[in-house]
Amino acid sequence: MERFTGSFTQQEPIPDTAIAAALRVMQSGRLHRYNTAPDEIAEAALLEEEFAAATGARYCLAVASGGYALATALRAMGVQPGDRVLTNAFTLAPVPGAIASVGAVPVFVGVTEGLVIDLDDLAAKAEGARVLMLSHMRGHICDMGALMRLCDARGITVIEDCAHTMGATWDGQLTGRWGAMGCFSTQTYKHMNSGEGGLIISDDPALMARTVLLSGSYMLYNRHRAAPPAEAFADLRLTTPNISGRMDNLRAAILRPQLADLPRQCARWNERYRAVEAGLAETPGLTRIQRPAAEGFVASSFQFLLLDWTPEAIRAVIARCGARGVELKWFGAPEPVAFTSRYDSWTYAPSAPMPATDRILHGIIDMRLPLTFSLEDCAQIARIIRAEVSAVFQGDTSAPDLTPRAD
Ligand SMILES: Cc1ncc(COP(=O)(O)O)c(C=O)c1O
Repeated sequence: MERFTGSFTQQEPIPDTAIAAALRVMQSGRLHRYNTAPDEIAEAALLEEEFAAATGARYCLAVASGGYALATALRAMGVQPGDRVLTNAFTLAPVPGAIASVGAVPVFVGVTEGLVIDLDDLAAKAEGARVLMLSHMRGHICDMGALMRLCDARGITVIEDCAHTMGATWDGQLTGRWGAMGCFSTQTYKHMNSGEGGLIISDDPALMARTVLLSGSYMLYNRHRAAPPAEAFADLRLTTPNISGRMDNLRAAILRPQLADLPRQCARWNERYRAVEAGLAETPGLTRIQRPAAEGFVASSFQFLLLDWTPEAIRAVIARCGARGVELKWFGAPEPVAFTSRYDSWTYAPSAPMPATDRILHGIIDMRLPLTFSLEDCAQIARIIRAEVSAVFQGDTSAPDLTPRAD
């Protein structure tokens, strides 16, 4: 009975170059982004400049978290209390939370078997909404050409939640570059790790001038290197409230070397994803998620479906895999656990039931895939899942086999 012993929550260490950069910031004592020596450029300003260059965006702002980035994008667009904001039924709590934080009303749009937003449901619910907060949840990217055509035709502005798609593309174009604004997270489990942190990109000078002012720029916006020119601030500087959420130089220093290494890390993530995917091929009862050819995804987790399984059978799979060291999360659990809440968990934003979406959510099994796992680890994890899914599928819902390990 093989058993996996790795930790699903263990990220790689912060690279030595990033630690050295962080030490330099701490030794300087100048952690606040606007606290610079004469002629010094703040780490936060450099990070913004480099992230803008890496994504091809004209402007970038570094902020305190991904959730703050999303709420700030909504504020910059002038979303008002009571406005309807479309978003995914399959996403995580910070997304509807950002919408609720500005007093707006989340309108949840269904999910497909490909784990992306259902464009038919989006069209059906679009009436009366001005903004779509599109979550590329768990790195699954919908047909962005079709989505943008649909939204453009209805005058709906798109904010992309790229918390799980840093460096990912659709049809060769980066996520975050399709909508009016792209929001990223650098929280520990994301593609770059600063503990907490967020980044906003856009080509729109008025939107980005507002985000800079909203984040709390103390009239020092001229210290930004990836912000619009001073003229863009002229009419906004006294009318835009300060809702502090800046990124500090310490986090920015940790992130800059990680950004330089992002393409290599993304390739490593995808190798791990492909290893698990290959190991689960033709597992009876298990549906793998089809990845369209146009999708240049960047994995950091793995999902599969146990479609139309009973709750008891799904619980048996999770328990049996857990007993063998493989930690699975279930989006169908009646109570939200850890990161797995879903649209009907957010009772502050009531929604009519969505039976087709409920069927998918009920079957979604989710697993982290940190870079600390080797390819052999991934193959072993897949073997364990395959064995336990197959056993339960064939009718064995007995308690997990806890036979001591042979090794
Ligand atoms: C889908 C999604 N969007 C947005 C966020 C927000 O990021 P943060 O935790 O940095 O606020 C997260 C974070 O977990 C997320 O998973």
